[in-house]
Amino acid sequence: MSVEQRPLGRTGADVSVVGLGTWQLGGDWGDVDDDTAAEVLDAALDAGVTLLDTADVYGDGRSEQRIRKALVARAERPFVATKAGRRADPFEAATFTPENLRAWIDRSRRNLGVDTLDLVQLHCPPTAVYADGRVYDTLDGFVADGSIAAYGVSVETVAEGLTALEHPGVQSIQVILNVFRRKPTEELLPAAAKAGVGVLARVPLASGLLSGKYDESTQFPPDDHRTFNRHGEAFDVGETFSGVPFEVGVQAAREVAEIAGDAPTAAFALRWVIDQPGVTSVIPGARTPAQVRGNVAAAALPPLTDTQLADLERLYDERIRAHVHDRW
Ligand SMILES: NC(=O)c1ccc[n+]([C@@H]2O[C@H](COP(=O)([O-])OP(=O)(O)OC[C@H]3O[C@@H](n4cnc5c(N)ncnc54)[C@H](OP(=O)(O)O)[C@@H]3O)[C@@H](O)[C@H]2O)c1
Repeated sequence: MSVEQRPLGRTGADVSVVGLGTWQLGGDWGDVDDDTAAEVLDAALDAGVTLLDTADVYGDGRSEQRIRKALVARAERPFVATKAGRRADPFEAATFTPENLRAWIDRSRRNLGVDTLDLVQLHCPPTAVYADGRVYDTLDGFVADGSIAAYGVSVETVAEGLTALEHPGVQSIQVILNVFRRKPTEELLPAAAKAGVGVLARVPLASGLLSGKYDESTQFPPDDHRTFNRHGEAFDVGETFSGVPFEVGVQAAREVAEIAGDAPTAAFALRWVIDQPGVTSVIPGARTPAQVRGNVAAAALPPLTDTQLADLERLYDERIRAHVHDRW
C-alpha cells in the first residue's frame, strides 16, 4: 500500500505522513505482549508506514529491541526516530554531559542493532537544555563521527520549540498537536517551516480520547499512565490526555465524533493534524494491528470541510482552550 511520504526537514529522508508511535510497545499503557507488539509493527510496515518513533526509556529499551527484531526479516528499513535524555539521574540540565549523551546513544545503537541512528531527539529535557550550545556541539560531534545521522528535539512547550529552532543543527521538532492542542499552529509550525525543520506531531489522539470510544466510566489498568499520571504524578500531565481533564475530554470527544460524521473519529482527528501547514508526520501510538490500520486510513481521507474546521475551532474555544492553551 502506498502512503503519502513527505521530506523530514533537511534530513534527506522521506517519511510517511502517518507514522507509528511505539511507547505502547515499551510500557506505561498496560501490558502489550511480545506477539502483539510484533503484530503491531508488522501491521504498520505492511500498511506502508515508513516512520517509527521510539525512545531508550520505553520499557527501558524494550520498545527499541522489539523494533530491531521486527526489522530483521525486512528488506526495507523504515526511518527510526529514537530519543535520549530521560535516563538522566538526577533529571537536571547538569547531567546532559558529553559522557552521558554518548552512553545513552551507544545503548540505543545496540538496542536497535545499527551503527548509525537515523534520528535522536532530546527527550523533553529540563528547559535549560534547549538553550545550551554545549549539548548541540556534542550532538554535532556524534553526527560527524557517524553515530547518528541527525538530531532533533521533543518539547513540552511552544517556547522550548522556538528556543531549539535557534540552533541550526536541529533537524526536527516533536510536539503535542491535536484537535485539543492547537497552540503550536500559531507560532511554532510556521517557524519550523521557515527554518526547514521537520515536525512530528505526537499524542495526536489525546491518549485515545479522540477516538471517541471512552465514556465517563472508562477505567484503565493500574500500570497505564492514564491511571497513574492523570494528575501529573509521574511526568508532565500534558502527556496524558493532552492535559485535558478526562471528563471534559470525553464530552468534547463526543462532539468531535458528531463533527466527523461518517468518518471514523480517530482517522478524522489524525487528518486534521496531517493537514496543519508545517507538519511532516503524525505519530499515533497503537496497541493492536486494527488500531494501526485505522490510523493509516487517515492518509487516504479527504481534507476536512470548512464547516468541520470551524466547528472544531469553536469546540476548542468553548471547552478546551481554558485548560491547556496558556500552559504549554
Ligand atoms: N515526550 C515525548 O517525546 C513523547 C510523549 C508521549 C508520546 N510520545 C510518542 O508519541 C506517540 C503517540 O502518542 P501517545 O501514544 O502518547 O498518544 P496517542 O497516539 O494520542 O494515543 C494512543 C492511544 O490511542 C488509542 N488508539 C490508537 N489508535 C486508535 C484507533 N485507531 N482507534 C481507537 N483507539 C485508538 C490506543 O489506546 P487504547 O488501546 O487504550 O484504546 C492508543 O494506545 C507515542 O507512542 C510515542 O512514540 C512521545
